[in-house]
Amino acid sequence: MNSLANKNILLGVTGGIAAYKSAEIVRALKKAGSSVRVVMTKSAEEFITPLTLQALSGNKVSSDLLDPETEAGMGHIELAKWADAILIAPTTANTLAKLASGRADDLLSSISLAFEGPLALAPAMNQAMWKDSRTKENIEKLKDNNFNIYGPGSGEQACGDIGLGRMLEPEEIMLNFSLLFEEGHLNNKNILITAGPTQEPIDPVRYITNRSSGKMGYCLAEASLESGANVTLVSGPVNIEAPEGAHLVKVQTAEEMYESVMHHIKNTDIFISSAAVADYKPENFSKDKIKKSDKNSEISIGMTKNKDILKSVSEISNKPYLVGFAAETNDLINNAKLKLKNKKLDLIIANDVSGKDIGFDSEENEVTLINSDSEFFIEKESKKKVASKIIKYISEKLVS
Ligand code: CTP
Repeated sequence: MNSLANKNILLGVTGGIAAYKSAEIVRALKKAGSSVRVVMTKSAEEFITPLTLQALSGNKVSSDLLDPETEAGMGHIELAKWADAILIAPTTANTLAKLASGRADDLLSSISLAFEGPLALAPAMNQAMWKDSRTKENIEKLKDNNFNIYGPGSGEQACGDIGLGRMLEPEEIMLNFSLLFEEGHLNNKNILITAGPTQEPIDPVRYITNRSSGKMGYCLAEASLESGANVTLVSGPVNIEAPEGAHLVKVQTAEEMYESVMHHIKNTDIFISSAAVADYKPENFSKDKIKKSDKNSEISIGMTKNKDILKSVSEISNKPYLVGFAAETNDLINNAKLKLKNKKLDLIIANDVSGKDIGFDSEENEVTLINSDSEFFIEKESKKKVASKIIKYISEKLVS
């Protein structure tokens, strides 16, 4: 069955020349079996008439936040609850900026702010506006908040300029949008992954760290992307490339990792904590390099505890599906089970790091997946293959 069949789709139309193509999008959505309601901004009405979109969608088109008639029928909160997904095509630079800053001064931005499901944008604007650093910042913010951004494409623009900024063709938008609903994988899921070590500075030239290479976390990010998920990868310092398509956030310390995770956790469906987070950090950071002295034959560094990121996530309301790693050198399964319980996880991945050929800083891994009622062993193979199996296991658990 078509993945868009029987879905309630709210199509937002904002004021750009590409708005005439939104008529084609409405038709394509209807053809795919979706129910469509259109919300226009005032300036969109200068480009295409509400009547056209009403005739094609078969529903009244709304545009006014303060229209008593609309609010009495289906107001902005009802519309946000009704929709399974929101697609805004075209999205102007102005609407991008509004959504990025969480403003709600018209019907479409209010619905978008109140909406809790997947939201997709097809930007359309002049190439200079698209290139502007403020637009870039807005796009980053929107990606941080799990918006799906389609395009823009490049080519000749209505104003005669040539460059990036054209709205994608309706067919391409529909292809991307329908993937949001494909079943059996992780389409439409937002996955947040931590990876790599953290570095805890002692002075400007020294730090405490561990042997994590980040490979396992990066392979998990890649496998998640291949399953169609939106991936945010919060990574400590590593020497490997992030997979294309992941939203990479680089951090150094456990504290920065904590801040970044807490910032991105909203709307996250699955949190995989594969980072080897330093449990302790030096109590005092010396802003000048610590010099050796002839008087002292030894020095000691006081250490203080870092926050447990995974545990903190397990304590938030509306917590995502939680996956932790137990990197152990002895009593692997029992230690892992304890962490599963103590950190209130859905799944723990028990990883033996005592040997040289698996675990930390090696190409291969061998793990046991443990949840509250079962254990699943993945025998030694490349981290890429192990990651694919872990992601498949998680997606099956989520749909069952
Ligand atoms: N973890 C975390 N924040 C920390 C420490 C650990 O999010 N400050 C996460 C790791 O990413 C991993 C899980 O918690 O998914 C288990 O980490 P581990 O360090 O093995 O467990 P601890 O509870 O710190 O126990 P110990 O170091 O004593 O084995």
